[in-house]
Amino acid sequence: MAAANTSPSPGDQPGQQPAPQWTVIERDGYRFPPGLSLNLLFYLRRRFFKPSNPILLFEHLAGTYGRIAHYKLGWQHIVFLNHPDFIREILVNHPQEVIKERTQRRMKILLGEGLITSEGDFHMRQRRIAAPAFHRQRIAAYADVMTQRAALRRASWHAGQTMDIGAEMMQLALEIVARTLFNTEVTSDVLQINHEVNVIMDLYNYLISLPLAEAYLYAPLPGLTRFRRARSRLNGVVHRIIADHRARVGAADNGDLLSMLMASRDEEGGGVMTDEQLRDEIITIFLAGYETVANALTWTWLLLAQNPEVAQRFHDEVARVLNGRLPTLEDLPQLRYTEMVFAESMRLYPPAWAMGRQSTAPVALGPYRFPPRTYFFFSQYVTQRDPAYFPDPLRFDPERFTPEAKAARPRFAYFPFGGGARQCIGESFAWMEGVLILATIAQQWRLSLLPDQQIDVQPKITLRPKYPIHMRVEG
Ligand code: HEM
Repeated sequence: MAAANTSPSPGDQPGQQPAPQWTVIERDGYRFPPGLSLNLLFYLRRRFFKPSNPILLFEHLAGTYGRIAHYKLGWQHIVFLNHPDFIREILVNHPQEVIKERTQRRMKILLGEGLITSEGDFHMRQRRIAAPAFHRQRIAAYADVMTQRAALRRASWHAGQTMDIGAEMMQLALEIVARTLFNTEVTSDVLQINHEVNVIMDLYNYLISLPLAEAYLYAPLPGLTRFRRARSRLNGVVHRIIADHRARVGAADNGDLLSMLMASRDEEGGGVMTDEQLRDEIITIFLAGYETVANALTWTWLLLAQNPEVAQRFHDEVARVLNGRLPTLEDLPQLRYTEMVFAESMRLYPPAWAMGRQSTAPVALGPYRFPPRTYFFFSQYVTQRDPAYFPDPLRFDPERFTPEAKAARPRFAYFPFGGGARQCIGESFAWMEGVLILATIAQQWRLSLLPDQQIDVQPKITLRPKYPIHMRVEG
């Protein structure tokens, strides 16, 4: 039996918008918000998933139902959240009652039991081992490598040259992760890694839409064959990195992440990580650590080229602060506008564009109560474009990231790095890398957009540009 009633908002942010009256539909002892009916969902899947852009579905749910929407797929309850308080509830307040949802767990077919896909005690142990490599003091040592690599890249360009900025940023970010975290050169492997990851990204939405993909991963289906080939080439590169590292430094801990992972011992059993575990962590951190930053930088260059006044202010800051020398860690606090530019770019084009969790126990959110095994989705792309928190949301305006403007917003109106116990371990690394690369390149070049290009987003594991973005290097 279903019955609808309304109750006042549980904790809406004062001054942001009028407190909504929540409509509650009681069914089977639980309390649901309104949303799509089953048949409508199938219609919507046809309408929105065919062009393989799930963002359209999320935008539709936010536009039609506002802060929270419920629908069912078969027997599964699915809830879309577009309210900072509800998002905080799931990420921060309910860590015991939620795990990653199925499509993220499915990434195990590529990432194994790495930091992104593992759960529970195993995840906590791996996170403890990896954490020191990401501590503020530790990543400070990476700043010089980031700047040097960016300087080499900018030196390889010449005035008037045109290029695919996405490909340039991918290669640069990949070299930086390899050198800083794994103390290895991947220059010769960069193109191969990039290629394999591109193959996997192209297939990703197809793979996760296959019911029981894990079960027939070895079936001779064309997409799966390509995936297996790309994965095994990627594995080959990673196993070589492990072997090289072992040959060079043995079991010594020389401070990089790979040494820490190799030297770590299980507190109970005293065993070191197997090569398989090492592989899982390395692939995870490689992919999480370069794809995201490279996409964020690509979108930033696009937005700067489209917004000349912002670009001018950004270039002025870089020239004033650096006065012709390469940026260092000490310059970061002065490169404030550059950081605001990067932040605003990740608002409009968040590399992690959506997140999801699945409950393992009943979960209460405001006036609602959901059964175990409910899926919760929320989207940085959608919430960060919400006019209630970001007026005139499509305007690129770094002023939204002054300390005062940030303090006036609820914490989870902007969450490019997630939050709670699974918050991005590489967040400080990413901010530092983004600002240093932007400043180093802008010191020598301006990048302009070639005319008549089609610009669109492609939501895969990360938010990629759908078509290459061609830019011209200008002195
Ligand atoms: C702009 C750049 C980046 C963005 C937008 C980003 C975003 C995110 C988000 C949203 C999560 C949480 C996913 C979830 O809870 O479901 C996450 C987790 C993670 N990120 Fe990042 N990330 C970035 C850069 C990096 C870098 C540079 C590294 C490493 C070098 C990294 C490594 C990781 C790892 C290992 C996790 C899993 C953490 C855990 O579950 O314990 N990320 N990232």
